[in-house]
Amino acid sequence: MASSKLSPCLIFIQIIFLVFVFNSANAQLKVGFYKDTCPKAEAIVKKVMDQVMKVAPSLSGPLLRMHFHDCFVRGCEASVLLNSSTGQAEKDSPPNLSLRGYQVIDRVKTALEKECPGVVSCADILAIVARDVTVATMGPFWEVETGRRDGRVSNFSEPLTNLPPFFANISQLISMFRSKGLSVKDLVVLSGGHTIGTSHCSSFSSRLYNSTGKDGTDPTLDSEYIEKLKNKCKVGDQTTLVEMDPGSVRTFDNSYYTLVAKRRGLFQSDAALLDNSETKAYVKLQSASTYRSTFFKDFGVSMINMGRVEVLTGKAGEIRKVCSRVN
Ligand code: HEM
Ligand SMILES: *[C@@H]1O[C@H](CO)[C@@H](O)[C@H](O)[C@H]1NC(C)=O
Ligand SMILES: *[C@@H]1O[C@H](CO)[C@@H](O)[C@H](O)[C@H]1NC(C)=O
Ligand SMILES: *[C@@H]1O[C@H](CO)[C@@H](O)[C@H](O)[C@H]1NC(C)=O
Ligand SMILES: *[C@@H]1O[C@H](CO)[C@@H](O)[C@H](O)[C@H]1NC(C)=O
Ligand SMILES: *[C@@H]1O[C@H](CO)[C@@H](O)[C@H](O)[C@H]1NC(C)=O
Repeated sequence: MASSKLSPCLIFIQIIFLVFVFNSANAQLKVGFYKDTCPKAEAIVKKVMDQVMKVAPSLSGPLLRMHFHDCFVRGCEASVLLNSSTGQAEKDSPPNLSLRGYQVIDRVKTALEKECPGVVSCADILAIVARDVTVATMGPFWEVETGRRDGRVSNFSEPLTNLPPFFANISQLISMFRSKGLSVKDLVVLSGGHTIGTSHCSSFSSRLYNSTGKDGTDPTLDSEYIEKLKNKCKVGDQTTLVEMDPGSVRTFDNSYYTLVAKRRGLFQSDAALLDNSETKAYVKLQSASTYRSTFFKDFGVSMINMGRVEVLTGKAGEIRKVCSRVN
């Protein structure tokens, strides 16, 4: 009696389990996916990246950011790289502001195609390059999972709804990360990517001139810092670049958290990390810790988590021959 009551229940559990296994595409991502098919893949990427970083170190920021923009729109499937003849690709959408380094990805791809044609996906290249620029800026190393395949669709309007805007508040940030399967901890850890790179004035100038405090300033931004930033960014400036972590813009370290704790995070989204007890505690912890902090280890873990978002594996998608167009 008991068993006949139980078995439908067990079957149900088994079905749920199987559906879960077949649906969780990331089950097929793994470290060393190209071990047999293109054993030199990661070494080739690194060789090209070493050359690039020597002549153009300022591309480290944009190339780290590119993987983030890829993963948050349709998953990590390289749709961010696709060209559109009619200006309707993700690339052409406003949140792309300052995304650059596409030609670096093309260079890596060309080198890989020479060694093992049609094997290494553009989505995996973005993931490996993001790790390599982190290492090149003296940040942490992590083993990158590979086995992603490339998507065939890129849509102008999707970045607008999937990428958190610079004016996002903490609840928006948490829910946008959660909708990608990423945790509150992933949010505060990955925001630490703002330890390298630059920003256009337009991404934070409303905090200088058009906010709710005295003379239109943002009361959550340090007032001395506001004066410094106003010197660099006049009203309406669309072109000037400002270092997000002044003084160590090319060094991956935990000083982002020191800045945020001092209310010197550049974006409203950075400042928002002080508005939630968990993210605030992490900011305080890292701002008080030494150079080789737990942040390094956390960052690797969260980058692996981000690299699993909505990936295409197995027979889904394709391996593009040229990263800026579908086969
Ligand atoms: C939490 C939500 C996030 C928001 C709202 C955000 C927003 C921004 C904005 C507005 C810029 C400046 C763009 C410009 O004006 O040129 C920027 C730059 C940057 N972001 Fe984020 N970001 C977020 C998360 C991330 C993540 C997860 C990463 C990577 C792990 C990342 C890495 C970078 C890097 C490296 C730059 C510098 C790019 C350069 O040097 O050109 N960001 N971000
Ligand atoms: C895609 O566009 C970029 C510039 O926007 C260009 O350099 C590249 O050659 C284009 N790729 C293809 C395949 O047309
Ligand atoms: C980013 O989008 C703007 C339009 O919003 C477009 O003019 C610009 O060329 C795009 N940038 C890149 C690098 O594709
Ligand atoms: C782009 O995505 C939007 C929103 O998801 C959708 O309404 C639109 O039809 C898509 N455009 C194309 C060309 O697929
Ligand atoms: C965050 O922003 C959303 C959308 O603008 C808004 O509905 C919400 O009330 C805001 N939450 C907080 C805590 O400010
Ligand atoms: C200031 O902000 C308001 C609303 O937030 C907006 O309507 C207005 O255009 C902004 N002014 C400038 C100069 O950006």
